[in-house]
Amino acid sequence: MALRTAGSVLVVFLWSVTVGQYGWSVTYTTQSICALKGSTVKLTCSYTYPSGHKVTSTFWLTKMEAGVEPEDIGQDPENAGRLEYHGDKKKGDTLKITDLRESDSATYKFRFITDQTAGRYYGDPGVTLSVTGLQVKVTGGLQDKTLNCSTTCTLTDNPTYIWYKNGTIVKEDTSSLYSDYFSDADSYSCAVKGHEDLHSPAVCESGLFYTYFYGIQCFRL
Ligand SMILES: *[C@@H]1O[C@H](CO)[C@@H](O)[C@H](O)[C@H]1NC(C)=O
Ligand SMILES: *[C@@H]1O[C@H](CO)[C@@H](O)[C@H](O)[C@H]1NC(C)=O
Repeated sequence: MALRTAGSVLVVFLWSVTVGQYGWSVTYTTQSICALKGSTVKLTCSYTYPSGHKVTSTFWLTKMEAGVEPEDIGQDPENAGRLEYHGDKKKGDTLKITDLRESDSATYKFRFITDQTAGRYYGDPGVTLSVTGLQVKVTGGLQDKTLNCSTTCTLTDNPTYIWYKNGTIVKEDTSSLYSDYFSDADSYSCAVKGHEDLHSPAVCESGLFYTYFYGIQCFRL
């Protein structure tokens, strides 16, 4: 029993030495990204492989199936015109995705293939990309409301939130919250600094009336 345990420890040890020795690896710069719908992201990695190999192809994948060579997401017509690969086929690779959609939320892994038999490798854990829109959420009572510029994931790199009242900037803050005395029927929307064009849909808030947003302004019910 003790011998068998020792044996498997040895196997595991040899295996890790082998991996270390031959040096197949993929290292991702970031392992998780939360980005705005409509924006652009770059996923980057660096990779190593045994000397003597020559990299013949590199790509990114999101789906893995046992026993099947994974598909290059660049081949998916859904992604036509939105993906760019930048790599030097030696050390590093960047996947740029533009005009992000919620359906791009996935774990992206980098794969590379070399000119030698069994010269195929992909790197775990990959980069987990979450794509979110902005939405104004309302909490509190009629006279005491707080608006929250909410997202479905926590935006990477501490964003500054911008609030618009009837289309004019009224606040810029690192907090996602906004409170006001909602006396009139004003429309509110929020954005993240640097991505002002990707603002949230407008909502109408009034301390006095029930209102709705239509076209470009608020109306009373
Ligand atoms: C605002 O929304 C975020 C989600 O984007 C949530 O995590 C947070 O708790 C909300 N804040 C308040 C005060 O409701
Ligand atoms: C914003 O527009 C509404 C009409 O949608 C109007 O009633 C309100 O007075 C405007 N508020 C400001 C601050 O201009």
